[in-house]
Amino acid sequence: MKSSLLKFSVLIILSGLTVISCTKRVEIDRIREKFVNDLIAKMTLEEKIGQMTLYTSGWDVTGPTLNENYRKDILAGRCGNLFNAHTVAYNMELQKLTVEQTRLKIPLLFGYDVIHGFKTIFPIPLAESCSWDLELIGKSARMAAKEAASAGLNWTFAPMVDIARDPRWGRVAEGAGEDPYLGSLIAAARTRGFQGSKLSDPFTLAACVKHFAAYGAAEGGRDYNTVDMSERTLREIYLPPYHAAIKAGAATVMSSFNELFGSPATGSRFLLYQVLRKEWGFPGVVVTDYTSINEMVKHGFSIDEKQAGEQALSAGVDMDMQGGVYQNYLFESVGQGKITESQIDQAVGRILYLKYDLGLFEDPYRYLDLKREKENTLSVEMLAHSLDIAQKSIVLLRNEPFKEEVLLPLSAGVRKIAIIGPLANDQVNMLGTWHAAGDAGRVVTVLEGLKSALPGSQISFSKGCETFGEERYGFQDAVSKAANSDLVIIALGENWEQSGEAASRSVLGLPGVQQELLEKILATGKPVVVLLMAGRPLVIPWMVQHVPAILNTSHLGTCAGSAIANVLTGKYNPSGKLTMSFPRNEGQIPVYYATKNTGRPLDAANKYTTKYLDIPNEPLFPFGFGLSYTNFKYSDLTLSSSTISATDTLLVRVTVSNTGTVDGEEVVQLYVRDLVGSVTRPVKELKGFKKLMFKAGESQQVTFKLSTDDLRFYTADLTFAAEPGMFRVMVGTSSVEYLENGFELLK
Ligand code: NOJ
Repeated sequence: MKSSLLKFSVLIILSGLTVISCTKRVEIDRIREKFVNDLIAKMTLEEKIGQMTLYTSGWDVTGPTLNENYRKDILAGRCGNLFNAHTVAYNMELQKLTVEQTRLKIPLLFGYDVIHGFKTIFPIPLAESCSWDLELIGKSARMAAKEAASAGLNWTFAPMVDIARDPRWGRVAEGAGEDPYLGSLIAAARTRGFQGSKLSDPFTLAACVKHFAAYGAAEGGRDYNTVDMSERTLREIYLPPYHAAIKAGAATVMSSFNELFGSPATGSRFLLYQVLRKEWGFPGVVVTDYTSINEMVKHGFSIDEKQAGEQALSAGVDMDMQGGVYQNYLFESVGQGKITESQIDQAVGRILYLKYDLGLFEDPYRYLDLKREKENTLSVEMLAHSLDIAQKSIVLLRNEPFKEEVLLPLSAGVRKIAIIGPLANDQVNMLGTWHAAGDAGRVVTVLEGLKSALPGSQISFSKGCETFGEERYGFQDAVSKAANSDLVIIALGENWEQSGEAASRSVLGLPGVQQELLEKILATGKPVVVLLMAGRPLVIPWMVQHVPAILNTSHLGTCAGSAIANVLTGKYNPSGKLTMSFPRNEGQIPVYYATKNTGRPLDAANKYTTKYLDIPNEPLFPFGFGLSYTNFKYSDLTLSSSTISATDTLLVRVTVSNTGTVDGEEVVQLYVRDLVGSVTRPVKELKGFKKLMFKAGESQQVTFKLSTDDLRFYTADLTFAAEPGMFRVMVGTSSVEYLENGFELLK
């Protein structure tokens, strides 16, 4: 009796508090709205357009510079936002100029591509996604925001969440791979990481989810190229990560360069109005990608820049990045009645709300504190995280015996080690693409990392060749050092400019003469470990056939060398799993795990089934794949029921055992197949995963919950629903190695 009275009183108090907090929220929103509306009422049309304009700052050898015209624009209220301007000293100068010398004193936004770190660099996002560790991935964004906000920034052009299934596209490096389920979770984790719990916290950055939309599906993997697909594919595969980031609170969205359904994304009312604003209720700022309004003319969508500006605004673009189209033409367009001032007011309102939420009106200098900048730049905390996430991003692709002994982890008996390759003692390339203000001078190279991890070993180094070009001048030295060692570690792959924006490749082997170098080193007969460092999955069938041990390290950032040394020596047991399939050759692209079955699924004995004459259908390494220094055994996959109704939850249980002699983490993966649908469904789709630590010899029962929510898809009439019928459940260590069971979803 007493306890129910207590519960009742607690409930009354709680609902009272909720009412108070709701009333408070309404009041706060009202104040915010009044502030912005009053400000808009004071603005001239030109000043409004100025707030919708974003220009870049430049840097030259002596430090940051601002184009004289942009300075004049700021002073005249014709430019309200800058990007690529950082450091407290520089941004302070610009903010002061704006706040003290412009008529309305509206503070500047400072944007930057803080993609995977600012000064301290974390692994490229594709590598980081291989950790499958949402907490750590979120922490990277958190740390990056802290460091960047301490350098005077308040806005990042990240997360990049484009699903990508074509490794020819250089920008796969910036995303989270091929899968919409994992991609959505990572998109949300990164957004929350950047933004923290509130934007006004001066240790956070406003996030910008990009590139909206479907930029990752550029035809032929060629950057900036055309995108076309069915609306079902768009909604099912490509849109979920953007939506997830928006649901996680992303304050801004960047429209992409590509066209979709025949309209450039920046002028697409379908994307920017119908999907983003109407269906998803996105209240924030839409900024273009770099000059993408201007490019609508070249797309053949607009007769001239003036019309492009009108189309972009009408589609829903609030801010023009670098193109100057809004600045040059919107005034005239309003005068001619092509667009209305109230359309402008709406866009300006969103931008001012963002500045308000960042706390800039309260204190325009809140991100500008020299002491804070010093404390947080490349701090112990940043570096510790950089090491942690770097080692967890490494994927062990192969560890086969060499003369009956596996090479990894390195055995204590290995005394003389030759470290070879263009990336073996390299700093800047460890930072990967889009490395912001990354400090290459602070990068620990592989050579340095191994020297400090193995002080008792005799370590020699030879570069051998570059990552590009035809020079073979270093081959001889490399071969002789290899021949004179007990073991060779060779670091090969791409330099930081061979992936990322405008870095599509049509042939995905090792660039330059690296393959030749590798062959020469192998010919010495010494045991060889390859460190594969690239911004994308490379085509490496020869390597896989001939090299006993391969670690996919990608570009790991500031602590690359230490992270690699920890994995090589077994101080950290690798746990990464691929998030993008590795093709056998370029002709196999696109290659991804969630394919359709087709009407003629592969049957090796039957010529007339779907296959190539010259290669298998399966990728070289599939999605979800990654080895460990221990072994995991899966057994007893059971389901709580063989049937479920629409409101039931199915429990999926499996026993996972570490059958080896060392502790290790495993990513236990759950896939589902809907056997028959009103539209055909993929042969498997990731629906859950758990990354767990298993002590040597330990077994754990792992449980997943599945409900109809997990079984929904875009049905024949594009409604998002689950359809009754038979389902397969697969739980395992990768997308190709699993146990199977099945259930029925009842009507
Ligand atoms: C172009 C890129 O596509 C985009 O990702 C980036 O944020 C902008 N440039 C600004 O640097």
